[in-house]
Amino acid sequence: MTNEKSEYILITENLTKRFGGLIAVNNVSIKVKRNSLTMLMGPNGAGKSTFVNTCTGVLKPDGGKVIFDGVDITGWPPHKVYRAGFVRTFQIPAPFQKLTVLENVLASMSHSGESPIRAPIRPLWIKEEEEKVERAFEILKNVGLEDHWDVEAFRLGGGQLKMLEVSRALATGAKLIALDEPIGGVDPAYAGNILTYVSNLRKKWDVTFLLIEHRIDIALPFADYVYVMDRGKLIAEGLPDEVANNPKVIEIYIG
Ligand SMILES: Nc1ncnc2c1ncn2[C@@H]1O[C@H](COP(=O)(O)OP(=O)(O)OP(=O)(O)O)[C@@H](O)[C@H]1O
Ligand SMILES: [Mg+2]
Repeated sequence: MTNEKSEYILITENLTKRFGGLIAVNNVSIKVKRNSLTMLMGPNGAGKSTFVNTCTGVLKPDGGKVIFDGVDITGWPPHKVYRAGFVRTFQIPAPFQKLTVLENVLASMSHSGESPIRAPIRPLWIKEEEEKVERAFEILKNVGLEDHWDVEAFRLGGGQLKMLEVSRALATGAKLIALDEPIGGVDPAYAGNILTYVSNLRKKWDVTFLLIEHRIDIALPFADYVYVMDRGKLIAEGLPDEVANNPKVIEIYIG
């Protein structure tokens, strides 16, 4: 018997979001497997961003449920969803431009705080600081930024900045990271790198990715499972091959 709570990090049941007369998200039910790279695709205006915003508390749902890591988080405010470990990258404050890549990652890690009792006892915090730096380097290695650890954030390219966002999400201890069009506006040569890093991370790290994308060509091969939305509704789901050959999907993308 499978336990749905442990197998799926995110489950939505008939999630609905209206803007006046427009039903931007119409009864959408999805299941995201732990440690998967699950893709949500669909043409412009399909409702992908609205769906993720409704899951992460940026928008209040008009109906349905959001279950994250076995907990009903429907209608939770964004900071609470974020603290629970469901992170939408734009929720993380923009990188500190003048700080280095490493400093930015360290700033995203939670710490036990300055205490007047602990402060004079160096061995207590020096160990903790060392462990943090080690962990930060481990993260940077996994996103191809280790050689850029001492570069200020403002000097990074667009694709590297995306990977810094992912690094900072990992540093917060996120269990589920939603990436809204991470390869949008990124040099096509680097777009494949981003997807490769993300794909490898979900195998090595205890993290799951929900990737929103409308570019079917580049992103689809990296997905474990794909959902397709059109005009607010889920119109297809399955493995990348199945979805790519689905007549409804072909119709909205080519027809
Ligand atoms: N705050 C809002 N108020 C009113 N309508 C909105 C709002 N946000 C989105 N919409 C509408 O909801 C629909 C879904 O938009 P959404 O941004 O979720 O689509 P999307 O799939 O993310 O598209 P894209 O690929 O262009 O990012 C669109 O018709 C959009 O105009
Ligand atoms: Mg969008």
